[in-house]
This record gives sequence, structure tokens and C-alpha cells, in this order.
Amino acid sequence: MTNKTYVIANWKMNPQNEQDVSDLLENISKAIDDGYREKVEIIILPPYVLIQAVANFLKKYSLSFQLGTQNIFWQNSGAFTGEISPNMVKEIGCKYALIGHSERKLYLGETINMIEKKIKIAIEEQLIPILCLNPRKDSMEKLSEELTIYLENIPNEHRQKIVFVYEPIEAISTQGGKIPSSEELVEMKKNIKKMTWPDAKIIYGGSVNSSNIKQFVQEFGFDGVLIGAKSLDPKEFSSIINQIIKL
Ligand code: 13P
Repeated sequence: MTNKTYVIANWKMNPQNEQDVSDLLENISKAIDDGYREKVEIIILPPYVLIQAVANFLKKYSLSFQLGTQNIFWQNSGAFTGEISPNMVKEIGCKYALIGHSERKLYLGETINMIEKKIKIAIEEQLIPILCLNPRKDSMEKLSEELTIYLENIPNEHRQKIVFVYEPIEAISTQGGKIPSSEELVEMKKNIKKMTWPDAKIIYGGSVNSSNIKQFVQEFGFDGVLIGAKSLDPKEFSSIINQIIKL
């Protein structure tokens, strides 16, 4: 567990090839201040087929970013067509695994039961789970039940490693349009802490950009952010990091 501020880049199904990865990382490396090494835990979540390329380019551009995967399967080997195991992503350098992103629930039918199994194997395989939660303000009971299912079989000493993401569905990909009110953001962070533990790492995701980053980290006290669209824009992404360094 780190005390740095998390900046997690969820590249989703982008970029399209290695050249674009190289251009993106080169531009980011030119624009970020070196202070990130002490203050910001930057984690890149590329599509599977580009993880190795990202690992190579991180070396080439001397970037000390961490690597993660956008998803894992809940077994390490076997007849599971199209799936990728925790062990495989670990072998190519991933330290983190994003689990239960809302787009996987929406488009691929990922369920609470599947997510629970993914958290369990991630912990067993020493991958740090970045666990997405999409609570609605009027369904705290549902959130509490969901968290109980996710956490009840994880030994206490391992639970603490989980990074929780509060990602309100309506705020994803809206370019800032539907971010919940300040009161709601603070309330939700408080509720998740109550349902987990007082020093749980809770980050925010949904339409984060260089104009609103300070709010989430400084004003509302989130431990970091999960960024989609703006993580693919070197100017925006580096500005987000540079502002966090100065806080
Ligand atoms: P945007 O930052 O594009 O809204 O995406 C949020 C997200 O889904 C990150 O996982």
C-alpha cells in the first residue's frame, strides 16, 4: 500500500497500436514534472495486447509508472476461451488489476458473483485489486450487501490492499456534465469508509480532467482518481499529475 496519490489511467480499448502507445508515453514523459516519483502512484491500464509494449516504452522513456490490467479471469489456467489469467498478467509486469468496471457489467454481464471471485484470485496472486463501485445515493443498503459479499472471504490482513473506486455511472464519459454534487461525493466517501475501514483507500472516477482534479483530491479528500478519456490526452494527463505534485 502506498501513501502517494493514485492517478490511474484506464485506457479502455485504446490506443490502436504500439506506435500510438509510444507517441502517447513520449509526450507524457516530456510534460510531467519529476516530482511524481515521490508523490504520485501513476498506474497505466492498457488493453491486454499492449501491456508488454507499455512495459518496454516505460523503460525507454525512463518512466516509473506501474502497470495494471483492465480485467482478469478468476482461474489461472484451463478451458476458458478468450480469457486471460492473473498469472499471465503478473508475468508481464502487472502489479494491479481493475475489477468490476461498470462497462464490463453493462456490456459483458459481469455479476457480483464473478467480481467476488476475481477479487479473491487477485489477492491470492498478489495483484492489488482496484475495485469499482457504482453506488446510487438511494441504495446504500445494496452497496453494503455488495461489499459484504466482496470482502467476507478475504483475510483481514489482505483486505487492506484493496483500492476502492467510487465511480458514479452518470459521471462516466460525460466530460464533466453529470458529476454528483459536492455533498454527495463527500457523503459517499464517508459511507464507503464506514462500510469498509477508516483508512480505506478510496479514489474517484468519472469525467476527471485538469480543471476539476484539485476538487477531488484536495477539497473532497479522495486518495486519487481513475481517469478514462483524459488519460489518452498527454496535455490533460500531465497537467493532472503536475497539479497533484504541487498540492
Ligand atoms: P472518463 O474519465 O472518460 O469519464 O471515464 C471514467 C472511467 O470509466 C474510468 O474507468
